[in-house]
Amino acid sequence: MKREFLTTADGSVTIHLPEWNEQYHSKHGAIAEARHVFICAGLQYYAASHPHQKTIELLEIGFGTGLNALLTAVEARTLSHDIVYTGIEAYPVATSEADKLNYPALLSIPTKFFQALHKAAWEECSQIEDGFTLCKQQKKFSDIDENQQYHLIYFDAFGARVQPELWTESIFSKMYKALKPEGVLVTYAAKGSVRRAMQAVGFTVERLAGPPGKREMLRAGK
Ligand SMILES: C[S@@+](CC[C@H](N)C(=O)[O-])C[C@H]1O[C@@H](n2cnc3c(N)ncnc32)[C@H](O)[C@@H]1O
Repeated sequence: MKREFLTTADGSVTIHLPEWNEQYHSKHGAIAEARHVFICAGLQYYAASHPHQKTIELLEIGFGTGLNALLTAVEARTLSHDIVYTGIEAYPVATSEADKLNYPALLSIPTKFFQALHKAAWEECSQIEDGFTLCKQQKKFSDIDENQQYHLIYFDAFGARVQPELWTESIFSKMYKALKPEGVLVTYAAKGSVRRAMQAVGFTVERLAGPPGKREMLRAGK
C-alpha cells in the first residue's frame, strides 16, 4: 500500500495511507498521542503500580514507525524496571522510510539510536541499551498465540473503520490470554463496541481522558 508522510499538529511526522485515508498516529500530534496513551496511561501507570517488579514484558500491536518503542526506550532510562519490548508487525517500515521521520530531532535523541530500532533483526531479541531489549516479530496479529507472557500491551492497530477485524472478541481474547494476571492493555480507541468486546473476553475496562483531539481512550485490566 502506498505510504505518504504527513506532519501532525505537534510538528511530528507520521505515515499516511491514502488508499485508506488512515494515519499511523493522530493528526493532532503523533508524539503527543503516543506519550499520552502508551507512555503515561500505559507504561508509567504499570511501573508505578508494580514498583518492585524487575522486568516489564511489553507487547506492541503494530510496531509501525517505531515511535512507541523509541519513547519507551527513553522512558526506561528513568525507571527502575528493565523493559523487554516485543513489537509485532506484518508490514515493516523500511529504514529509508524511517529516515524521513523527525522523532530523533524533536526528542533530542541521536538519529543512530532510532535507526538501531529499525535495523534490529526481525525474529531476534537485541539489547539496544542497558535496560531496553527489543524483540521484533514479523507476523500477523491473528497469529499471536502466547500464554501469560506479557505485563503490558500497547494496542495500536489501525482504527476499526479500516480494520474492523482487529477490534473483535477474537483478537481481544488472544490479548487477554497473552497477558499475565494483573496485566494491562492500553489503546487510543474509545468506541463502545471496542469496550464491550474487551469486557466480553474478561477485561475490566476504564475510560480515561484521551490524547489531544479525542475525548476518551481505554485501559483494560486482566
Ligand atoms: C497504527 S499503526 C502502528 C503505529 C505504531 N505503533 C507506531 O508507533 O508507529 C498499525 C500498524 O499495524 C500494522 N498492521 C496492520 N494490519 C496488521 C496485521 N493484520 N498484522 C500485523 N500488523 C498489521 C500496520 O502495518 C501498521 O504498522
